Amino acid sequence: MIMSTPNLLAILFAISATFFVSTRCNDDRPRHGGVALFIFGDSLADAGTNNYINASYFKANFYPYGETFFHYPTGRASNGRLIADFIAEYAKLPLIPPYVRLQEHGFMGGVNFAGGGAGALVDTFQGLVVNLHTQLKQMEELEKNLRREVGNEKAKRIVSEGVYFISIGSNDYVARVADNSTLLQSISMEDYVGMVIGNITAVLKGMYEAGGRKFAVMGVGPLGCVPGMRPSTRNGSCLGEANKLAKVHNAALTSMLAKLETQLPGFEHSYFDFYTSLSERIQYPSKYGFKVAKTACCGSGPYRSISSCGGMRGVREYSLCRRPEKYVFFDSYHPSERVNKQFAQLMWNGSPSVTRPRNLKALFESGHV
Ligand SMILES: *[C@@H]1O[C@H](CO)[C@@H](O)[C@H](O)[C@H]1NC(C)=O
Ligand SMILES: *[C@@H]1O[C@H](CO)[C@@H](O)[C@H](O)[C@H]1NC(C)=O
Ligand SMILES: *[C@@H]1O[C@H](CO)[C@@H](O)[C@H](O)[C@H]1NC(C)=O
Ligand SMILES: *[C@@H]1O[C@H](CO)[C@@H](O)[C@H](O)[C@H]1NC(C)=O
Repeated sequence: MIMSTPNLLAILFAISATFFVSTRCNDDRPRHGGVALFIFGDSLADAGTNNYINASYFKANFYPYGETFFHYPTGRASNGRLIADFIAEYAKLPLIPPYVRLQEHGFMGGVNFAGGGAGALVDTFQGLVVNLHTQLKQMEELEKNLRREVGNEKAKRIVSEGVYFISIGSNDYVARVADNSTLLQSISMEDYVGMVIGNITAVLKGMYEAGGRKFAVMGVGPLGCVPGMRPSTRNGSCLGEANKLAKVHNAALTSMLAKLETQLPGFEHSYFDFYTSLSERIQYPSKYGFKVAKTACCGSGPYRSISSCGGMRGVREYSLCRRPEKYVFFDSYHPSERVNKQFAQLMWNGSPSVTRPRNLKALFESGHV
């Protein structure tokens, strides 16, 4: 699953020789043109990591995933690009390849560590996912190899000027809501959120210790309103318990991020209010160019709530809409490419009402004086 060290070193050497050095010396480039993007988290950010794991439930490397944009299944859980793909584009970077494929692609301005199904808690879907702690270990490995290859100075600059995009938490709460056979239910909501936030904090501190300074963190969306959750209520309305967890999480996350910014010198963050942005599109789809918000484009059962899109997760039967761009959700849990693009734009240059205290454009440009 992980490439051999010599190959990795060869790639890292190529980074400094081509990407970073040349872009930084070229004055025609925008100031953020040489800033790397490191991507962490779950299926909202996975660009193919899970294609390389054995467990199959959280894979999306089959038709019709990827149909709209890539025209083949890349492993992304949408009909096209994800939020981080658009962010890379706005930052003048190419598509960022998964860590497991560095060897094939070479370093192209960043690395994607995210894996579908991942949570902040090691216990979340354990054995089926690459959790956030493992993703941090992989980043630490990358940083060590960088230092060995390009020297401390240059490695430090790449790592400290880079932006760390993190989408995590949803699966920890989905696991709690969906699985009441475990010990999860014996822990109070507040304690559970505290555990998730505690683990995210530990990982952020680990990234900071490895040299990271600029963090773009997504909140958790209105989980109770995704098509996959709607059948849990008798009348198909949003599942209040799941939304409550998301809200408590987001409140704790924003105060934790603000605290880290005062505690850790040089720590800068941008928080994206995913909850509000997605809720608005679910409530007023036509205002944002959509027709359908309760039902997914792809899946089966009521609201296409069953995650059978593609027929490869144990259920063969599924329906697929003709025009995914009219849907807020592509499958029972994941937004369509069009939603992803709208969110990337909000994160990139949105106002503090959705992306705060600074947007990603400012985060990418920060430090380049
Ligand atoms: C995946 O499965 C293969 C073949 O069964 C096995 O050799 C390998 O160790 C497994 N990898 C992981 C990460 O479990
Ligand atoms: C899970 O919760 C549902 C409804 O709250 C209940 O009917 C079911 O028996 C529970 N299952 C387990 C294994 O506790
Ligand atoms: C992280 O999660 C584990 C459960 O997986 C929990 O026992 C631990 O206390 C959490 N860590 C922090 C710092 O909250
Ligand atoms: C659905 O039921 C819930 C209670 O389970 C209620 O609060 C809500 O108003 C109902 N929504 C609709 C659209 O009927």
